Amino acid sequence: MHKLELETRSRHQCRIHVGKGLLAGSGLLVRQAGNLKRMVIITDSNVGPLYAGTLTREMEIAGLQVDVITFPAGEENKTLRTATSIYRQLAGLYADRSTAVAALGGGVAGDLAGFAAATYLRGLPLIQVPTSLLAQVDSSIGGKTGVNLDRLKNQIGVFHQPVLTITDSSTLDSLPEREYINGLAEVIKSAAIADAGLFTLLENNTAAVLGRKPELVDEIIFRAARVKVKIVSADETDTGDRQLLNFGHTIGHAIETCSGFNITHGQAIAIGMAKAADISHLLGLLASHDVIRLKSLIKTVGLPIKLPKIEPAQLIEAMRHDKKISAGSLQFVLLGKPGESLVSRDIDFNTVEKVLAADNE
Ligand SMILES: NC(=O)c1ccc[n+]([C@@H]2O[C@H](COP(=O)([O-])OP(=O)(O)OC[C@H]3O[C@@H](n4cnc5c(N)ncnc54)[C@H](O)[C@@H]3O)[C@@H](O)[C@H]2O)c1
Ligand SMILES: [Zn+2]
Repeated sequence: MHKLELETRSRHQCRIHVGKGLLAGSGLLVRQAGNLKRMVIITDSNVGPLYAGTLTREMEIAGLQVDVITFPAGEENKTLRTATSIYRQLAGLYADRSTAVAALGGGVAGDLAGFAAATYLRGLPLIQVPTSLLAQVDSSIGGKTGVNLDRLKNQIGVFHQPVLTITDSSTLDSLPEREYINGLAEVIKSAAIADAGLFTLLENNTAAVLGRKPELVDEIIFRAARVKVKIVSADETDTGDRQLLNFGHTIGHAIETCSGFNITHGQAIAIGMAKAADISHLLGLLASHDVIRLKSLIKTVGLPIKLPKIEPAQLIEAMRHDKKISAGSLQFVLLGKPGESLVSRDIDFNTVEKVLAADNE
């Protein structure tokens, strides 16, 4: 088992445990995290039937009283409406401030249950139990919780750090292929921005990674999660270095928007990373063989590097509306080498358009 400590500037400490089969020993981990007597597990309709039973049993053995709230799976349910339904159920269960919420599932469960935990009675202790690769390496770490407002993603939200995170890598056995590959895009991102060793590990073991070889999966979750922990610990509120985590996301978000969300987040940021590498090369930062390494890795795991049929001008327009823009220039994460990144605040739109247009040649 791997352990990570996240200590934020607000001095909040969260222990992240990563390992195979951890759900089965989760009672002890929760006991160590504090004197909790009650838990409400909040999970979605796919993950609940698979893992809520084991978690409930373990918590009951550890002496906790447990209830389960299930909401319908899917991003379209990450809304205030679902949050309200969760509040009503928490009220019906007489949950009080000493009741811990366990967010069991992918990023949607983490964000939604996290948001409910942050806001109900002004805050209940939160335990993250991420079960998708994306949630394990990304969304369960850093304390961001929230819901969507119509088509505006994560428009309503609040920071609420978990007291404990239990990342059981064996839950990935049941994760659909498409979701696993989606998560691999974030793993590649973490490697590219801050862990050259992880990058090489992925390059040299792609088949085993895709085959979900257990020890390897543990290792890549741990290392990708460690990148996020390090960056978030240094920048809890998203103002400085945390921007590095947006590598591939500036163009990626624009692609998601322009494709009417017909493309997955992982696919969109995969293309975004390939384009950010091209821009890095154009600006003389990244050697061409490193651009090729990144693109080959992205392709071998089954993710795209070329734009779908979207006009570059349309993407630029979407980027202008993005949060990461200040006065006519774009904030962009660029690579120096795989494992080394920097935030550039003055990338002009012409440079971006040039790189985007290259796919149409
Ligand atoms: N808070 C953050 O910092 C942060 C960061 C990145 C993304 N996010 C959010 O995360 C969400 C995306 O997360 P996601 O990709 O995990 O989506 P998700 O939670 O919808 O999970 C994807 C699908 O996989 C299913 N699933 C999850 N784990 C499973 C398992 N072990 N076995 C079988 N099925 C399983 C889910 O039911 C769902 O159908 C988005 O809403 C995004 O905004 C938040
Ligand atoms: Zn992402």
